[in-house]
Amino acid sequence: LFTDDFKGTVLHSKIDFIEILNGSPEPHCDDRDSLCHCEERSDVAISSPVLVSVGAGVVFDDFCAWAAKEGLWGVENLSYIPGEVGASAVQNIGAYGVEVKDVIHKVYCYDTVEEEFVSFSVEECGYGYRDSFFKRPEIKGRYVVTHVVFALSREPKPVLEYGHLKEAVADCHFERSGSGDEKSLTPTMIRKVIIRIRKEKLPEPSVKGSAGSFFKNPVVPMEQFLKIEAAAKAEHGSDYKVPHYDLPDGMVKIPAAWMIEQCGWKGKRSGGAAVWDKQPLVIVNHTGEAYPEEIIGLEKRIIASVRTRFGVELHPEVEHV
Ligand code: EPU
Repeated sequence: LFTDDFKGTVLHSKIDFIEILNGSPEPHCDDRDSLCHCEERSDVAISSPVLVSVGAGVVFDDFCAWAAKEGLWGVENLSYIPGEVGASAVQNIGAYGVEVKDVIHKVYCYDTVEEEFVSFSVEECGYGYRDSFFKRPEIKGRYVVTHVVFALSREPKPVLEYGHLKEAVADCHFERSGSGDEKSLTPTMIRKVIIRIRKEKLPEPSVKGSAGSFFKNPVVPMEQFLKIEAAAKAEHGSDYKVPHYDLPDGMVKIPAAWMIEQCGWKGKRSGGAAVWDKQPLVIVNHTGEAYPEEIIGLEKRIIASVRTRFGVELHPEVEHV
């Protein structure tokens, strides 16, 4: 989010290649009508990761489309996320139960301080929820990602646990193949369902400017969640369920979208800016001519009302430049 005119130069990576590193590409096994020899290959070959090197300037969804076409599993749930491969490795983009860190093998960069090319293993990247080593204040801006090596899989690895994804995929699968058998799922089928869900909920980037989710989902201690839940039940009835995800460390992640909706912000406009009516975690440049202060004004007012109502501090996911 540009908060003012930017007095500098913006470099945009055009490093634009996708290359399988270990072995030659297998025949496309995502096309059920073609002669597919998956089952003839040994388990060892199918289960070993396929390392794919992708330039930082490749549009992330072009990579997802390529992987699906190649019958490679791993990034299908990340389909249709706007942005490019270099940024994905900085932000640890995530959607529908998958984060890009789950499939990153190594990140290659140019170090602008030592003026040399370097690489980081996935462990060294220090990934967390929408977070990485590259975002630390003392590191930020030092490394320019040149390419990322992903570890994909020829072995089917559907991740369908998020929300109603399993049901949506099962419906689509049945329509297409007349079978609900998970074994015959393909990355392309999952990709299609993900794209449909995203299109239903999120603004089309080429039509309505936004940065996707404006805020991160907050993580709160269990006691705080129980208080929020008790207040919601008192207001909406004892059967009411507050959406949440229990984390392994005993903390609870609450969808910021729910809190923002509860505070009455869904669909609200402020000058050229608006809260998206189908997913209030997204602030859009509604008129295409919104001033930065209109977006930031909405951001501040949403943070303040969530703080007042729930005692929870929202933090933007969007970088302010
Ligand atoms: N919800 C509402 N009202 C709404 C919309 C959602 O109450 O209008 C509640 C519902 O309970 C719903 C829950 O929020 O079940 C979660 O909604 P959704 O599945 O849309 O996911 P999210 O938590 O709002 C996160 C990511 C998205 C990602 C989706 C799907 C963050 C900050 N955002 O959103 O990522 O696509 O999950 O995995 O974690 C992005 O980062 O730019 C982004 C779009």
